[in-house]
Amino acid sequence: MDALVTPAKKQKMQIEDKTRHMYRTEFPDNEGSTTITFTLKEKVGILASALNILHSHNVNLHHIESRPARNSQDNFEFFIACDNTTGGLKQAIEDLRGLAQDLTVLSRNPSKTAGNEELPWFPRRIKDLDRFANQILSYGSELDSDHPGFTDPVYRERRKEFADIAFHYKYGQPIPKVDYTTAEIKTWSTIFKSLVNLYPTHACRQFNHVFPLLVDNCGFRENNIPQLQDISDFLKDCTGFQLRPVAGLLSSRDFLAGLAFRVFHSTQYIRHGSKPMYTPEPDVCHELLGHVPLFADPAFAQFSQEIGLASLGAPDDYVKKLATLYWFTVEFGICRQEGKLKAYGAGLLSSFGELEYCLSDKPEIRPFEPEKTCEQEYPITCFQPIYFVADSFEDAKIKLRNFAATIPRPFAVRYNPYTQSVEVINSKEQVINLTKDIKGDLSLLEDALSRVNN
Ligand SMILES: [Fe+2]
Repeated sequence: MDALVTPAKKQKMQIEDKTRHMYRTEFPDNEGSTTITFTLKEKVGILASALNILHSHNVNLHHIESRPARNSQDNFEFFIACDNTTGGLKQAIEDLRGLAQDLTVLSRNPSKTAGNEELPWFPRRIKDLDRFANQILSYGSELDSDHPGFTDPVYRERRKEFADIAFHYKYGQPIPKVDYTTAEIKTWSTIFKSLVNLYPTHACRQFNHVFPLLVDNCGFRENNIPQLQDISDFLKDCTGFQLRPVAGLLSSRDFLAGLAFRVFHSTQYIRHGSKPMYTPEPDVCHELLGHVPLFADPAFAQFSQEIGLASLGAPDDYVKKLATLYWFTVEFGICRQEGKLKAYGAGLLSSFGELEYCLSDKPEIRPFEPEKTCEQEYPITCFQPIYFVADSFEDAKIKLRNFAATIPRPFAVRYNPYTQSVEVINSKEQVINLTKDIKGDLSLLEDALSRVNN
């Protein structure tokens, strides 16, 4: 029953978040560096005063950047990465608080650095995703001894080619096209043929709405493995979601942070041809057939992004809960449509065996209730014994939003699609600013209603 293991033992590592200690390459400012954001009023010499504070406490700057503050035309936001190894950082932060507003300390490694107010580091702009894309829990070309391709030198070499693409990728670049081999296409073909027969009866309505569009626009065919860039372009047109290649598994925190920016980290390699119905890790079949179609659905895209936004700066235990919610929705979610159960989770839609099983009378079905679902344990080496049913993506989103409101975090976050950045809302001025934006939207609503009624 190989096909039972979907999407796999290694994905469990992602869910469990085995932490930064297993990274193959380290974030440049992961160890020995702390990131601080703050706002300064425009005033001659004020930045020099701030930098002098750091200097006087023997704190070296690794990086600094600035931008106009959203809360006032007279203010600037600063983003600095500085040395945390000399012992002076804690007092420097205290002194900076006397000069700056909205000071937030972010760290990839909070337990090792100064101050109790530190929050886990998180990306603020979409290009910040470059900073952790290579911090994977497993390297894409290093296979476990029980992997079907472990003893195949050709497969291992091929996996290294895919890993190299991902390692060298930077935000904004086109994703390199891959010439898949005849053997790889044969593996894809076997999986594709078995699944497309089940989709009309087993997949949710939204999936079946999008799938033919992927056939027409992105080359989803039995004899063709679609290219990530073509799919990313298509998704961007539909919902603003985009793909970026990844060499292996990211931590839960990093993976979920990508979703906050509507970025899905996708593998590009394919499973070993000796076992087409089994993969011990996510592969291109799982990503493209399981995940991609629903990222083209606006409600599902919004739901996915909200999980990501909720994770930014959240404590580790809440990231784990959010990763469990991701598991029982985006990976193994079931919904009710016209009185029937339908699959929408990628782990189901990319597994012939589990897609049939999940809608049979064998598993237990429970309603999706985030506060209970997030505590549910789950097995990784067999089909899921329990699935959670959402009434709709909209309903799941509202429930998730209510759950996110319980996450202890000293700020709210909002995604700004114009700048592709995350805005942290933690001051009165920012709340006032948000109110102004909402008033603008309400005015548009009022205008639209008056025109629709006429
Ligand atoms: Fe997945």
